Amino acid sequence: MKRYLVITGLLVGSFFVAANGVFAAEAAEGMPTFAKDVAPILYENCVVCHRDGEVAPMSLISFQEVRPWSRAIKEKVVNREMPPWLADSRYGRFANDRSLAQEDIDTIVAWVDGGAPRGNDADLPVVPELPKGWAWDDPDVIVEMPIEMQLPAEGEVQMQHVYNHAPFEEDVYIQAVQLLPGNTRVVHHAAGFVKKLPEGSTLVDGLPFYADGTPVPRREIGSLDAESPASEGASKLVSYVPGRGWERYPAGTAKRLPVGWVIDFGMHYQVSGKPETDRTRLGFWFPKDRVTHEILNPGAGGRSTTIAEGKELLKGGAEYGGIPTIPAHADDWRIAGVMPFSQDATLYGFSPHMHLRGKSMSYSLTYPDGREEMLLSVPKYDFNWQLYYELAEPVKIPAGSKISAVATYDNSIRNRYNPAPDKEVYWAEQSWDEMFSPQMRYSYDNKILPEKNRPSTEE
Ligand code: HEC
Repeated sequence: MKRYLVITGLLVGSFFVAANGVFAAEAAEGMPTFAKDVAPILYENCVVCHRDGEVAPMSLISFQEVRPWSRAIKEKVVNREMPPWLADSRYGRFANDRSLAQEDIDTIVAWVDGGAPRGNDADLPVVPELPKGWAWDDPDVIVEMPIEMQLPAEGEVQMQHVYNHAPFEEDVYIQAVQLLPGNTRVVHHAAGFVKKLPEGSTLVDGLPFYADGTPVPRREIGSLDAESPASEGASKLVSYVPGRGWERYPAGTAKRLPVGWVIDFGMHYQVSGKPETDRTRLGFWFPKDRVTHEILNPGAGGRSTTIAEGKELLKGGAEYGGIPTIPAHADDWRIAGVMPFSQDATLYGFSPHMHLRGKSMSYSLTYPDGREEMLLSVPKYDFNWQLYYELAEPVKIPAGSKISAVATYDNSIRNRYNPAPDKEVYWAEQSWDEMFSPQMRYSYDNKILPEKNRPSTEE
């Protein structure tokens, strides 16, 4: 009854206004419109993915495209599910934070609640150009997938790993690296790694085989951090998600690529409804200026002590054999990795990595005097969004500190990504197995690289 009255009142009200000719197609005074208020927010924060030929399911550029999605947009932004950014805003400040400002969320909510009016097209901002291609001038070196991937029109495509040799004849230091998808309609996310193939194996069409023709199992492919062969994070170069597929190391720092290793393209594809192909590339830029510090990025689960089910595992416990399996139906299974720092270090950012049961991950720093600080908390981890969290200001880590990474896993039916809640989960590379890889990026302050650390391309 009451509702009826209110609606009648509104109708009469707007009738009255219209009859008076005060407002024409205009929304009520102060009410946000698409053209003036909402489009700028979408163009700035959404259309990098929500446009034709990009990864998101629909374009959010024109009013006609956006209008049918308005309720869903409200829901996703209020719940902070879009844009994808998983860090708890209470901790840390990140240079690449893509979360919406509260006032932008409020604007979208007010617009949707006000009936999602179009407004005046003259107010529309210019549709931003998408950065296509390389982020800077052409890379010094490009390594591409040695084969063109053929993708089916329908169905689910397993994570693909394709390898290629890096064309370096000595160790090189790189200033920046970019993963450039060949086909953005199908590359959902991807990562580039450096890996070591076992003795006696060769690459055939991007896949490693032993001399007798047997394929090399992935667990026999080594990662850059030889001390913890299973710690994949150690060798990760770059992650691609739409709008971000590059890493540039801070001035004076660079990442070393050891000679003789191969590039591993870890590709997570989605189908587009028609057969597609992709050939993704990695571009490398060498430093132009003197590099003093090497960027390291093992995980806090790698060289450190790992604790699971209340037991301290052997050093390097992140080797899969050392970690107990996650029981069937466990909904909050916990593991921690503690990495002590015996020298002063500078920390630049984090890439938490788990698979489909990954539920949360956090990193905290314990100073030598026992003081503790939360550096990053990802309360709702999402395997689909492999994000790098780049600290707005690098964090100084005094010698004697330690960084603890704590992760939880949900192997219950409540986890909608869980492929098999009634099975225990092993530690391995496939997305249906699990991984605990709390990667970080840092350098040691007192470890100064020699002057001659640039590649011979300078000649
Ligand atoms: C980094 C890429 C990216 C950005 C940025 C992004 N989205 Fe999305 N969005 C996606 C992808 C991919 C999906 C589909 C899969 C999913 O839901 O994760 C999606 C799904 C959605 C959906 C749900 C669609 C459905 O089928 O129900 C809505 C609504 C949405 N996005 C709105 C937004 C809004 C609004 C913004 C900006 C404020 C935004 N997104 C920013 C990639 C993005």
